[in-house]
Amino acid sequence: MLPEVRPGRVLLVGAGPGAADLLTLRAARAVGEAQALLYDALVPQEILDMAPAHCLKIQTGKRAGRTSMAQATINRLMVRLARRGLDVVRLKGGDPSVFGRVGEEMDALRAAGIEAQVIPGVTAAAAAAAQFGFPLTHRGQARRVVLTTARLDQGGLAQDWRAAADPEATLAIYMGGAAAGAIRDQLLAAGRPATTPVLAVENAGRADARLFTGTLDGLAETVPSDLDGPVLIVVGEVAARAAVRAPALLTELAS
Ligand SMILES: C[S@@+](CC[C@H](N)C(=O)[O-])C[C@H]1O[C@@H](n2cnc3c(N)ncnc32)[C@H](O)[C@@H]1O
Repeated sequence: MLPEVRPGRVLLVGAGPGAADLLTLRAARAVGEAQALLYDALVPQEILDMAPAHCLKIQTGKRAGRTSMAQATINRLMVRLARRGLDVVRLKGGDPSVFGRVGEEMDALRAAGIEAQVIPGVTAAAAAAAQFGFPLTHRGQARRVVLTTARLDQGGLAQDWRAAADPEATLAIYMGGAAAGAIRDQLLAAGRPATTPVLAVENAGRADARLFTGTLDGLAETVPSDLDGPVLIVVGEVAARAAVRAPALLTELAS
């Protein structure tokens, strides 16, 4: 009879925005001890290199519009690897709980009786705010932060934007780069003033980050359509506080 294998555990780990020194110590330790690593496309090579040489590394992720592994396949893979006794790290960009499908993965692991835990990471909005010196909340200007996404559904935005009309809400819009024009239209229709400051950050948290600023009526022009890196859009009064710092300091901080 084959000896019974002790199931491994799965850690759902936030890799942060793409700079290795923005990993938490706990996340770095988890990657350094991983026996199997399932990672998303936004995780940089520098972080993958922290895994042991014998670690099995599998890319699951995609960038917008490109094929990637189906969520059900990822769930099955995590369960299978853990059942073979491997300690698995599921590494995701930013924080796993922000548009990271952590709920679905946790459900699948729990249903399979696999021990699972989440290790948080720095989400893109926090990284962008820190890097370009603007707050997400600000007394008298921004009393709430809405983390939202813009997914186009049959040519239109598949969500109700009325909640975003609060002039004291900072909107941090994930996956919105390609929908900037539609976001502008929806927010104007919801009553957000055309002069509301907006910004977009490409590659937040990294040495090659870029900041674009404008106002809501010009959002489509503010976000260049040919950006290669991930883009976060911020709408709200706090966006007027963003400042481009000296490139040398940016590089020093993010490298
Ligand atoms: C699937 S969501 C994952 C978000 C991630 N869990 C987080 O907490 O940042 C991917 C989107 O997050 C945003 N994003 C992720 N990393 C980013 C970065 N370094 N700079 C700007 N936006 C980023 C982009 O809008 C991108 O399309």
